[in-house]
Amino acid sequence: MARKFFVGGNWKCNGTTEEVKKIVSTLNAGDVPSQDVVEVVISPPFVFLPVVKSSLRSDFHVAAQNCWIKKGGAYTGEISAEMLVNLEIPWVILGHSERRSLLGESSEFVGDKVAYALSQGLNVIACIGETLEQREAGSTMAVVAAQTKAIAERITDWTKVVLAYEPVWAIGTGKVATPAQAQEVHFELRKWLQANVSPQVSASTRIIYGGSVSGGNCKELAAQPDLDGFLVGGASLKPEFIDIIKSAEVKKSA
Ligand code: PGA
Repeated sequence: MARKFFVGGNWKCNGTTEEVKKIVSTLNAGDVPSQDVVEVVISPPFVFLPVVKSSLRSDFHVAAQNCWIKKGGAYTGEISAEMLVNLEIPWVILGHSERRSLLGESSEFVGDKVAYALSQGLNVIACIGETLEQREAGSTMAVVAAQTKAIAERITDWTKVVLAYEPVWAIGTGKVATPAQAQEVHFELRKWLQANVSPQVSASTRIIYGGSVSGGNCKELAAQPDLDGFLVGGASLKPEFIDIIKSAEVKKSA
């Protein structure tokens, strides 16, 4: 079953009005494969979502970096899934490790958020990944399986979910997982989905990699059979993001 290559650009908490304009014009001028080959989703901070959405080329889409766990109301500082839907923001990133570690978001909390966002019609980039300590202790698979299970227990429809495997030790560190390390976890995750959700979901769900992806390392990673794209942080703010989008071609010719 074909899984369309997916490249997400997670701007995190970066950008000024001027910088946003510049990044969007670079993206708009980028010569990239067609929408049949690659799905591109740009995730600026909330405050820039409307301007990015209205100025971005129509073959790229936008994502929020978070949303609230249930219907909006008296939750100061939160943004509800309903608001994203209202603004026609089609995607949301949930469970990023920076939120898990800095803000204490548990796997259960993330699972509830994923379920709620899906119930409102959003597409979700759900992030999972182990810390260096967990990897060195040999518990990588147990950790990512538990994080995935907390999502799988709460949802039935996986068609709007992209699973982002982002080893915490590789995020923002310049220390990218080797293609073999990434492939191993992606393969195991697919096996986990097959055994615990369904063979169909395992075959069709995109599992993307995140953590120090760059213009230099993307092609080799993209060539791995169970790797269906990237969630890019730092490099998504730079012109090399175009090269990362282009790495989708590696799959086409595979
Ligand atoms: P990075 O971030 O590419 O800067 O390592 C990836 C992410 O956190 O999504």
